[in-house]
Amino acid sequence: MKQIKFTETVLRDANQSLIATRMPFDEFAGILSTLNKAGYASLECWGGATFDACLRYLHEDPWERLRKINAVCRDTKLQMLLRGQNLLGYKHYPDDVVRLFVKKCVENGIDVIRVFDALNDVRNTETAIRAALDAGAEVQGAICYTISPIHDLDSFVKTAKEYAALGVQSVCIKDMAGIMTPKAAFETVKAIREAVDLPVVLHTHSTTGLGFMTLLKAVEAGCTQIDTAISCFSGGTSQPATETMDYVLREYGYDTGLDQKLLMKINRYFKSYREQCLKDGLLNPVVMGTATDALIYQIPGGMLSNLVAQLTAQGALDRLDDVLKEVPRVRKDLGYPPLVTPMSQMVGVQATSNVLNGRYDLISTEIKNYVRGEYGRAPGKVSDELKKLVLDEEKPIECRYADLLEPQVEKARQEIGPLAESDEDVLSYIAFPTLAENYFKERAARRKRTYRYTIKAIGEEV
Ligand code: CO
Repeated sequence: MKQIKFTETVLRDANQSLIATRMPFDEFAGILSTLNKAGYASLECWGGATFDACLRYLHEDPWERLRKINAVCRDTKLQMLLRGQNLLGYKHYPDDVVRLFVKKCVENGIDVIRVFDALNDVRNTETAIRAALDAGAEVQGAICYTISPIHDLDSFVKTAKEYAALGVQSVCIKDMAGIMTPKAAFETVKAIREAVDLPVVLHTHSTTGLGFMTLLKAVEAGCTQIDTAISCFSGGTSQPATETMDYVLREYGYDTGLDQKLLMKINRYFKSYREQCLKDGLLNPVVMGTATDALIYQIPGGMLSNLVAQLTAQGALDRLDDVLKEVPRVRKDLGYPPLVTPMSQMVGVQATSNVLNGRYDLISTEIKNYVRGEYGRAPGKVSDELKKLVLDEEKPIECRYADLLEPQVEKARQEIGPLAESDEDVLSYIAFPTLAENYFKERAARRKRTYRYTIKAIGEEV
């Protein structure tokens, strides 16, 4: 029987895409044992924005969240998303930080690490991949899918081969904007399958409504693993629904490994939380709909709404059409970076400024750093005009940017001192210094309170 594997995203990407990663651990604690038994190949539950949201909004230690999930989910692999040399953020960290971070992820319970780089510059993923393999994790090399004149089958195959050469166990096509068509999925999966001897995984979003078709055609082309979200947290900016794909693929004779009764139970469990999110306004029905604008402008839905917000704030919404025409020009000047965070914001801000202030009259620091090479190698050629404007002042970086960075772990350890109680704490501090420090202080205060109550309770009992 043909096999197809499922990765459930409700704890990470669905959570991130629909409710800005605000699902507290306690909301899903009660369903973990069922998720563990449902037959998923993996549960995506960490990385991406979870780390940030835990510290910033949920007053949770992200490492502790992972350990708690791991304590229950002993039968299903736990998966995370890692942004290569940027780890979970948008700047490059030195190698010592990347190595320790990856090692600690695995020690705390991660089995599968999906690694990507926003520019598909595989050099930025090497340290993380090596560290993950050394720690015994399974590594998925993810290719950011985008549409541009220079992104074709050959370019995606080239990235897949580079990942294969680094020893990853599978290749993932990551369509973060949900703009990959069924036809493109079929052709891309087929081309990668022919070029590298590795399983191909497809990650997409339902944003534009292509999701189900894209997954199905990918599977037809030989993709053996897909990302889906339990139905009440699926659709819109989230993933296509788990139960629907399970139903369809069974009919085609695939062994999905999933237990339909348990899927029902999982969905029922999350339904009440979904209702609550709708009531609180945490879940906006708009993000659950189908938005086809991204197909016309070929930019992610989130980027479009950012542009509208920016222009509204500047009282220049009437220039939206001009900005939408300028976006592809800026992108071309930058060598067609995939429009993934932070590149989508950088391109959007620059395009807006070009329209409102004149072309490149103002150039953002981020764009300057990009042109210098701080983010890695541009996929295509950066325009000579832009290079001239930026590189007159600054020298280009030819090497991997992280090679220029000083080790940071020991320095951070000294800086944070006894407030950090473990390597994990030090890493939280490196990733989000202020947030982590506040969290550590809060944790200490909470302990002190608990301690006082305990003393009082014991006193009363005696
Ligand atoms: Co995603």
